Amino acid sequence: MAFSTQWAGAATLSDVKGLILSGGAGTRLRPITHTSAKQLVPIANKPILFYGIEDMVAAGITEIGIVTGDTGPDVEAAVGDGSRWGVNITFIPQDEPLGLAHCVLIAADFLGDDDFVMYLGDNMLEQGLDRFCHQFLAERSGTDEAPAAQILLAKVEDPRAFGVAEVDATGAVVGLVEKPEVPPSDLALVGVYLFDKSIHEAVRTIEPSERGELEITDAIQWLIDAGKRVRHEILDGWWIDTGKKDPLLACNRLVLDTLASRIDGTVDDESVVEGRVVIEEGAEIVRSRVRGPVIIGRGTRIVDSVVGPYSSISEGCSLTRTEIDHSVVLEGSTITGIPRVTDSLIGRWVEVGASDAGAPSTRLLLGDHSLLEL
Ligand code: TTP
Repeated sequence: MAFSTQWAGAATLSDVKGLILSGGAGTRLRPITHTSAKQLVPIANKPILFYGIEDMVAAGITEIGIVTGDTGPDVEAAVGDGSRWGVNITFIPQDEPLGLAHCVLIAADFLGDDDFVMYLGDNMLEQGLDRFCHQFLAERSGTDEAPAAQILLAKVEDPRAFGVAEVDATGAVVGLVEKPEVPPSDLALVGVYLFDKSIHEAVRTIEPSERGELEITDAIQWLIDAGKRVRHEILDGWWIDTGKKDPLLACNRLVLDTLASRIDGTVDDESVVEGRVVIEEGAEIVRSRVRGPVIIGRGTRIVDSVVGPYSSISEGCSLTRTEIDHSVVLEGSTITGIPRVTDSLIGRWVEVGASDAGAPSTRLLLGDHSLLEL
């Protein structure tokens, strides 16, 4: 949906560029990130990254840059040139994950002098981007004190793990601090930012932090110290940083709750499908029970199994004599004879099976940084 509202003299969102950060180390989601980008992990069987792209497209943004790291080729292969969304996508390789502000630094040629919205590729928001972007554009038209940046804030119980903002009585942001021991407020920075061209001088001027990264909080603080106005919006709805397993599963639950049921695959007479369920074409449900919200990908076979609420099973998987709920299973994986799998994230082409009947042993082949709770 292209947004059609225009303010007199204001730019429209087709003049605003999008910058999505899809590099990074992904240490908190190992071992999945040893072999693949965390932004390509599916939520309700769609890569997390696509939700961010689609939010930009829905807001009317047509030029999107994606910063990529080691997993760049996978991200490029999954995303393509943007034509499926009717937008242009430019990939911007980052040699090392040197920080969010470093991403702006290396995207300078792509961004030029345009306003842009920056979005962390592993974050998901319930609210779209259009209201957030249009408020910025509306304030930038015709006022002397046009904001140079806008940040999105969410009230959180324990702000110490986040970038935290201090806001004055007029609503202006007066200070930002990264992961403070004594937080100045309960307002955490959400991974969506809007900038005008002044951010380029900021990212060129700041120094790396103690952890060796160019911090976006330092760049925004530089804008504030240079007398620029930084405005904020408080988030409506949920926001999840999916960079760890449990938030990722929580996000999967929230998105599955919004699915429209659809059965394009086959369900035999001995199976029961109840609740909000999507079964993609070529998927087969045989002598099994599927209790939604659940999505089952193309060509996946569920045999003599129970797929319980809040599960996303990707394409080409096979579940036999298994009971699973509250879990995400990635492409091509096989689970056989496991009585209860819950709260699990299972990677691509994984094989999980029970040992021979009656054998008390557990045989494992687990990659580095795997987590197994038996
Ligand atoms: P983070 O999740 O803060 O960092 P990370 O990906 O290195 O993860 P971890 O802490 O688990 O090691 O990054 C937020 C988003 O920004 C994420 O989509 C990755 C991306 N990013 C880059 O593209 N380049 C960078 O230099 C950094 C630090 C992050």
